[in-house]
Amino acid sequence: MVKKIRLGILGGGGDSLIGELHRVAAFINDNYEIVGGVFTPDWKKNIKFSEQIGLPTDRIYKDFDAMISNELNLPESERMEVVSILTPNFLHFPMAKELIDAGFNVICEKPMTTTYAEAKILENALAKSKKVFALTHTYTGYSMVRQMREMIKLGVLGKIHKVDVQYYQGWINKLIHDPEKRKTTWRLDPEKSGESCCVADIGVHAFNMIEFTTGLEVKSVLADFNYLYSDNKMDIDATMLLRFSEHVKGIVRSSQIATGEENCLTIVIYGEKGGLKWEQENPNFLYVLSEDKPLQVYKPGHAYNSELSLDGAKLPPGHPEGIFDSMANIYKGVARAVRDQEYNSGEFPTMKDGVRGMSFVEKSVESNKKGNVWVALEN
Ligand SMILES: NC(=O)c1ccc[n+]([C@@H]2O[C@H](COP(=O)([O-])OP(=O)(O)OC[C@H]3O[C@@H](n4cnc5c(N)ncnc54)[C@H](O)[C@@H]3O)[C@@H](O)[C@H]2O)c1
Repeated sequence: MVKKIRLGILGGGGDSLIGELHRVAAFINDNYEIVGGVFTPDWKKNIKFSEQIGLPTDRIYKDFDAMISNELNLPESERMEVVSILTPNFLHFPMAKELIDAGFNVICEKPMTTTYAEAKILENALAKSKKVFALTHTYTGYSMVRQMREMIKLGVLGKIHKVDVQYYQGWINKLIHDPEKRKTTWRLDPEKSGESCCVADIGVHAFNMIEFTTGLEVKSVLADFNYLYSDNKMDIDATMLLRFSEHVKGIVRSSQIATGEENCLTIVIYGEKGGLKWEQENPNFLYVLSEDKPLQVYKPGHAYNSELSLDGAKLPPGHPEGIFDSMANIYKGVARAVRDQEYNSGEFPTMKDGVRGMSFVEKSVESNKKGNVWVALEN
């Protein structure tokens, strides 16, 4: 009988945005059982939340240190095998570093760290540990995003000319215009978010989508950030011009003050033979653009899709899939890797994506600070 993978969770308490998505995603394909963790630093809330979700409290810990030392004292057959880090950004690095060094597999939320230097330290630690590390760039798990990647690999677009990703949200309007909330929101605090708000939060998803779907690497970036109040200069809106090579260019348009927008992530890749367009709010439709043929629409679950895409579709065509399925596909890939089974490299983003992402964030900040100049990403 296949044993479920013992999963620990850090962060993602009842008050969090992302916790439920991870917990549900872990269950969707029957691969994991949650055995414990630290959902929140408030002990009473931590216990209350565990009880609310029906989780025995014997492996709910008061903090991360207590979790690591207690888990390491358990026999390997009982110890957590994978730990998901769902805390605010500044805790990703210290937690991931200690977990990797102690021999745990890690699933980490983006941005992987708060600096590029931390990302490189994690990369070196992982190379020594040989454990699995996955970064939850959630949108890469959608069937139609996977299909996009496979079609581009097959040459459906020919040579790529231009990439355009828009990631617009409006949620920060509610906080940014209130002087108190500007001070207390962790994403607007450089100590907790890192040097960027908008680019580290959503621009980095857009960047990863580009490299995931096209296989191209961004070589340099020119960034223009915006803030609205001089008592908080964190970027809440940012446009990045991208250069892949001399004649292949792109743009990331990201904003958290795009009033009325919800989670409007749209990626369009244009090549010599056609274009591919996907919108996160309508994730079951992949549009194939052409100059001489009518618009085509690909949908999940059909035999015409690639193996990677079909692996992510659980029901017959016509049963819409969403963000829970997308995250579940990432967890499924990680389960295969942890069990040493074969998997496609498109099943989950890795340490390499995390290092690339942190270079993008840091170089975008640098470009903006220097007066919107071109800055090369680290190799
Ligand atoms: N992949 C995605 O699409 C996506 C979407 C949203 C958020 N995120 C990322 O997920 C992370 C969390 O974001 P969020 O919006 O859920 O934040 P949040 O502020 O809503 O929740 C953070 C949770 O972490 C807990 N926490 C804080 N300090 C802790 C500690 N020391 N130990 C244990 N738990 C602790 C809090 O109590 C809370 O439950 C961020 O890094 C964010 O960038 C990713």
